[in-house]
This record gives sequence, C-alpha cells and structure tokens, in this order.
Amino acid sequence: MSAITPSSNTVTTLTTWTILDLLQWTQKYFAEKGIDTARLDAECLLAFVLGVDRMRLYIDYEKPVGEAERATLRELVRRRGTDRVPVAQIIGSKEFWSLDLRVTADVLTPRPDTETLVSAALGLLPDDRAPARILEIGTGSGAVALALASERPRAQVVASDVSAPALAVARENAERCGLLDRVELRQGALFEPVAGQRFDLVVSNPPYLAEAERPSLAPELAHEPDGALFAGPQGLEVLEPLVRQAPDALVPGGGLVVECDPRQADRVAGWCREAGLLSVTKHRDLAGRDRVVAARGGG
Ligand SMILES: C[S@@+](CC[C@H](N)C(=O)[O-])C[C@H]1O[C@@H](n2cnc3c(N)ncnc32)[C@H](O)[C@@H]1O
Repeated sequence: MSAITPSSNTVTTLTTWTILDLLQWTQKYFAEKGIDTARLDAECLLAFVLGVDRMRLYIDYEKPVGEAERATLRELVRRRGTDRVPVAQIIGSKEFWSLDLRVTADVLTPRPDTETLVSAALGLLPDDRAPARILEIGTGSGAVALALASERPRAQVVASDVSAPALAVARENAERCGLLDRVELRQGALFEPVAGQRFDLVVSNPPYLAEAERPSLAPELAHEPDGALFAGPQGLEVLEPLVRQAPDALVPGGGLVVECDPRQADRVAGWCREAGLLSVTKHRDLAGRDRVVAARGGG
C-alpha cells in the first residue's frame, strides 16, 4: 500500500506500516471518496482483517502489520471505497440492539434508527414476564424479531418475509442468538402466513422508499435487496395495506408499531385512525425525525 501526500499526489512507499499508518491512510482515502464514516469504516475493516476488536487497534497503534494482512486490507478497502459495498456486508456482520447479527446481500443491514422501532414496541409490551405473541412482518436479518425476543423472554415471535434467502439469514441469526426455540420463521406477504391469527404486538419495518428516489440514493443501497427498500411509486405499497389490515391481526388492546420515512409519518398515523386504532403516537429517530408510528387496537 502506498501513501499519497495531499499536496503533490506523489506516491511514497513506507517500508513498515503500523496500525496507525494504515488507519490514517484508509481514513483519508475513504474521506476523499466521499464516505461520511471514513474513520469508523477504516477501523472496522482493519480490526476485521487483524481479527481483533476496534479497541485493540488503539492499544496497538505502533504495531507493524505484515504484508499478507495489508494485501487483504487493500482488497477490502477497494470494495468499500470503489464499489461502495457497505462495511457490514464486507465483514459479514452488524451489531443491532447488542446482538451480533450475520448480514449478507440478501438482507437489509439493520440500521441504528430501527432501534427506535424496537424501543416503541417494547413500550407497548411493558411487562417483560408476559407470555406475549409477537408478529414481525418483513424480518430480513431477523434483527427486530430477535431484539424483541431477547427483551421479552416469555414471548413467542413469528417473523415473516416474502424473501426465502432473507429468511435463511434470519434463521441463522436466531440460532446464533440462541432464540430459535421462540422465533418461528414463515414465508409470505403481509399477514398471509398468519391468516386468522391474532397477536399482542405487530411490528414492521417494511420497504418504504419511492421508486423515483432511486437515482438520488447513496451508492451503498445498490448492494441491498430491492425488495427491502422500494415499495412502488410513492413507497407506500406495503405500508398502507399493512396498517389497514393490522386491526384484524390484533387482540383487543394489542399494539401496532411501524417504521416509515419521516415524510410518511402523518399519513401513516391517519391510516391508523381510519382503521379504528387508538392512542396513535409518533416516535423520533436518532436525528429527531418522526420515524415510527405506534397505535393500539380498540377494545
Ligand atoms: C426494510 S427491510 C427490514 C428488515 C429488518 N426487519 C430490519 O428492520 O432491519 C424490509 C423487509 O420486508 C420484506 N418484505 C417486502 N415486502 C414484503 C411483504 N409484502 N410482506 C412481507 N415482507 C415483505 C423484504 O424482503 C425485507 O426483508
């Protein structure tokens, strides 16, 4: 790997590369490529290559890194910087709600904002000893279903998805988290896999991007499944039927919690009221935008 001096673009070769050298070089390269999380991504990739956690990099700043590891890092840096593959897909995992989850190109990488969905859902199931029945529609990696199952140890969770490859990843994650005995995976659209059943909580982070937004999206999204992102011309083709059909799948007083684009939140709240749901509330994400709508079924 070479160091490029910022002023002249002259390439100089270091004989010894320390962890600090590699972090600084990679951070600068990613920043030049327009990656907002340049330092974090550099740390994640180097820690992955060295098989250590990120904290160890700081302890071992001055440690030299051998050529074989640098060659591996170079390839990962190229995939991140040039191909714009998300870090989670490169290293094959992502932490969500303190769970270490496997991530592939078949599933949406769980987002920190989706922890708002989990918090709001837990708020509607305050008794952590209750034997609740939970349905997650569109489980992807299983992140939300597994977070809820881990927080509510007596709950039984059904996690559904239209995508069979996504369900395979969710199953692997359920096993990895030791929760497969309480998380049942089913394939199908919306409420079809649980027809006639009722739940204490229905939760979903459905696809909600409009097709027209595609050209303006971050290049990383091209590596995630289309079916996890886009939902028709306005992004509402999954959200709207999901909210309108939810009352038939809730026990009296059961909760519905859905994630949406902040620009959709008022409309989603309106559908909840039109569907006869009560106590409709909006919840903000880490950036303070309305990201989640929650409601309760009537008595
Ligand atoms: C935005 S991703 C959410 C993944 C995961 N729950 C999360 O929050 O990280 C949406 C998921 O919904 C699935 N999906 C799309 N349309 C669906 C439908 N009509 N019924 C059920 N699942 C659907 C996609 O395959 C995808 O896995």
